Amino acid sequence: MKTQRLHLKAPDNWVNDPNGFIYYKGYYHLFYQYFPYGPRWGTMHWGHAVSRDLVTWEHRDLALYPTMREDQNGCFSGSAVEKDGKLYLIYTGVRYEVVNPEDPHTCLDDQFESAQLMISSEDGFHFDNENGKKVIIPPITDPAIGDRTHTRDPKVWKSGDHWYLVLGSTVGEKYGEVLFYRSDDLHTWTYVDKAFKGPEYGWMWECPDYFETKGGKVLILSAMGFLKNGEKEKNQSICFHVEFDQSSCRIEIPDVYQFLDCGLDLYAPQTTLDAEGRRILSAWVRMPKVTDEGWIGMFCTPRVVEVRDGHIFFPMHPNVRAAYSQEIPAGSQRAKDGYLVSLDLEDGEELDVGGFVIRREGDRICTDRSAVFPSFPGAHLRSETPALKGGCHLDVVVDKDLVEVFVNEGECVISNAVYGLEDKIGCSGEGKKMTMHIFSAQR
Ligand code: FRU
Repeated sequence: MKTQRLHLKAPDNWVNDPNGFIYYKGYYHLFYQYFPYGPRWGTMHWGHAVSRDLVTWEHRDLALYPTMREDQNGCFSGSAVEKDGKLYLIYTGVRYEVVNPEDPHTCLDDQFESAQLMISSEDGFHFDNENGKKVIIPPITDPAIGDRTHTRDPKVWKSGDHWYLVLGSTVGEKYGEVLFYRSDDLHTWTYVDKAFKGPEYGWMWECPDYFETKGGKVLILSAMGFLKNGEKEKNQSICFHVEFDQSSCRIEIPDVYQFLDCGLDLYAPQTTLDAEGRRILSAWVRMPKVTDEGWIGMFCTPRVVEVRDGHIFFPMHPNVRAAYSQEIPAGSQRAKDGYLVSLDLEDGEELDVGGFVIRREGDRICTDRSAVFPSFPGAHLRSETPALKGGCHLDVVVDKDLVEVFVNEGECVISNAVYGLEDKIGCSGEGKKMTMHIFSAQR
């Protein structure tokens, strides 16, 4: 089985969203949207990777694939929970009403129907897709509650004696909404409440995730057609520090939001609890073109999510930080698993990691990947953080396909896919002599 260290990437072909992220019976399980027949999006299956420590990952056999009418054209995103020692995967099945004659792996004009499905496993590794073991939960029969096409990505959690489920949906393809359900047994679900904000927050909300973490309650959404400054942006993951009443599922979503990440590649994140009870997050890193090795799509390194003074922080997971254990001299050969650079940046100073440029401009950090990314119309080459609250410490995780810049211990993160980074690091600036520490993760 293929093993990857620190950076989990498609084993081959295509991946998108992380699914069913859970710590179960001593393993972190990260399932993912996977098309096994080519490096492009198509009929969705669930791939599967496991890790003991969130650092070394092993790709395992396919977990889910289409076997029934409701998921005949794909097993879309969903989540995992443990109940009575079993692992349950809850996901969206899709069935095309009009198949695209040019490509049987897609449909025409969003003509498909969604259903929410569930399957269980005794050990987290074996899923019986074939023998009628997939069950349908909660069926959307009332168009006043949910859109029969665009209602998907169930995220389930337990609180007290009840199970809760949030689904992403749309109101007439005009604005996104989330639907909350409750259950006593994971099988029978009752619709409880819904919430929406309006068209400026995107026309469809995918992959919703609600949770309580250290410091507060958080709602994460992946908004399709998110509008920023009146200009249509591509799909964007955003998060809110919310108020949520568990018994009524009444949620107050403020107008103030944060981007999940200040780069433009992270999408469809999912959180779970780690072995120590921290709220942790994985997300899909979108890529515009297939790598020379023939795969496309990867995941960010696991992050912690916590709220401090109303701001949502995404610090690097301590296991990831600890993996970069060996300090190496600045001029030496970089390690094959990538490296971590730590430094403080003053205004006007710049760090260049193999052609990827990180620069401090006043109280913001700006990045530029034009030298290490394909240029095409609409390509996002530059990113910037909002104004930082004070100081500017950077921990930059560098891999040949991905650079993640953690600013001030997760006050914000800028993640960008890159292609063909060079093996050199440089820094320049007016200020005092910059001191950087470089760490490799070689064992
Ligand atoms: C988000 C998403 C989900 C859907 C899945 C299909 O990237 O569109 O809403 O379940 O991908 O692959």
